[in-house]
Amino acid sequence: MSSPRRRLAVLASGTGTNLQALLDAASGPAYPAEVVLVMADRDGIGALDRAAAAGVDRVVVRLEDHADRDAFTRACVSELQKRDVDIVATAGYMKLFAPVMFEEYGERILNVHPALLPSFPGHARKVLRDTLASGVKVTGVTIHFLDEGMDTGPIVAQEAVPVEDDDTMETLHARLQAVEHRLFPDAVAHLAAGRISVDGRRARIQSP
Ligand code: GRF
Repeated sequence: MSSPRRRLAVLASGTGTNLQALLDAASGPAYPAEVVLVMADRDGIGALDRAAAAGVDRVVVRLEDHADRDAFTRACVSELQKRDVDIVATAGYMKLFAPVMFEEYGERILNVHPALLPSFPGHARKVLRDTLASGVKVTGVTIHFLDEGMDTGPIVAQEAVPVEDDDTMETLHARLQAVEHRLFPDAVAHLAAGRISVDGRRARIQSP
């Protein structure tokens, strides 16, 4: 008998194309996780529409509705625990969490980032702007564990993407996202299957 699928929550703040890639991957019965919750930090975003279209439970938890970041984080943890969430994927999610999130879900949250960390941390638009302004010829996609910092957790997977001479933020982002949509579901599957080990800064994926 195959092992039960892990309960996955996806956290998003925007369009949700990475959410869609995860929903599509998890629609196959062999994928080791199912998306049981989409959590957003604001209303009216594409990610919530995608969750609704897929029939997935969704909740909005706004930082502005809480006294401070700790209270906000506790509310987010509570929404995850209510649904017995095992693992979390942050896909274009724009909020940082207080330590309580990592006390509960440490090394169970993966993030997708549109650059080769530790180069170019920050939110996606800043990353794309900084990448083009720097003149680098190669950038890429990083999948890493989320921690309390801004894009500082152990790196699980990276793939290089070329920067073309005539790239704009839009054309570069499209090339990066094509890689994100493959690399992120793959890494989440490894996490769900218990194949990622972490030793200090170094995360390793074991062969199945
Ligand atoms: C992605 O490029 C991701 O790397 C970054 O934010 C963007 C979110 O895009 N963290 P989407 O909402 O998944 O389309």
